Amino acid sequence: MTGKNFKSFIFYCSPAGTTRHAAEVILRTLQSEPAETVICEIGKNEPQLKKILQNLAESREPAVVFVGSPVYSSHALPPIMNLIARLPRRALAYAVPFATWGGATSGLALEEMGEALSNRGYGVIAAAKVLAVHSLMWELENPVAAGHPDSADDSLIINLVTAVKKNMNQPAPALLAPADLEYQPREMAEDMLKLNLDIAKTILPPRTINRKTCTQCGECVVSCPVAALTLNPWPEFAETCICCFNCVRLCPENAIAADLTPIYDRIHKRAAAAREGEPTQIYLP
Ligand SMILES: Cc1cc2nc3c(=O)[nH]c(=O)nc-3n(C[C@H](O)[C@H](O)[C@H](O)COP(=O)(O)O)c2cc1C
Ligand code: SF4
Ligand code: SF4
Repeated sequence: MTGKNFKSFIFYCSPAGTTRHAAEVILRTLQSEPAETVICEIGKNEPQLKKILQNLAESREPAVVFVGSPVYSSHALPPIMNLIARLPRRALAYAVPFATWGGATSGLALEEMGEALSNRGYGVIAAAKVLAVHSLMWELENPVAAGHPDSADDSLIINLVTAVKKNMNQPAPALLAPADLEYQPREMAEDMLKLNLDIAKTILPPRTINRKTCTQCGECVVSCPVAALTLNPWPEFAETCICCFNCVRLCPENAIAADLTPIYDRIHKRAAAAREGEPTQIYLP
């Protein structure tokens, strides 16, 4: 039996900040009534994450885990899928996947996160896709999905959390069916399955490091959301790099460079071909 006493855990990854924004709207809405909520940006602090996962494993109350990922190359980020695989198996476990997408395609992120969460024993009680400015287009005056998430997107997130709270007050919370998140036309889904971040890495422009202008200040190390960058003594990228381009965007000396212009056309074409229905949408049972 569940009731008002459920614990919430919000896990997210957000290289450019829009998924963090969505996570914070969730947090504020959960906290509008006294409710215990833990929020954790993954990839930043592994000891903290371990403690939170232990807390989740040991708590006896019903738990709702909100898991947020940006859509990269039609999928959720690998570190988020790894996090789901680490969630402890426990009783009374529920989940809400949410994905921010940059107007090209929300891809298979929600259905894959939903399936992985169910496989860990977390009943999926709601989900959301949230339109967000495309994070590869920060150099442009008018990036795809500029201005999102906006207040209308936030209102939908608030509605989502309000519905989750109501659902958790039921004796047995209602669950989404896997098919509810399989909203991409199946022929497009087939194509999306052929793309992933490893393939995208071969298409995305390479980064070059200018040793003359790099001051070895370490800002790029701090800006990396997945600890994939080290100074040795110049910036070096590990295999775990997710190609968020934060290090390029945030280097104060422009010492890490990448020419993103060739991919703008590709993003615009994908945005024109998308068949998404509502760009920001909440899914409830
Ligand atoms: C490498 C990379 C791949 C991306 N692939 C997609 C995509 O397939 N579809 C899409 O709509 N947006 C895509 N985006 C844009 C992000 O999903 C979007 O901007 C998201 O809001 C970023 O979240 P963040 O602000 O939390 O980092 C991609 C961004 C990057 C950096
Ligand atoms: S942020 Fe730029 S200047 Fe600083 S260490 Fe990294 S590459 Fe060099
Ligand atoms: S190394 Fe740069 S591009 Fe790769 S994940 Fe870190 S910040 Fe992003």
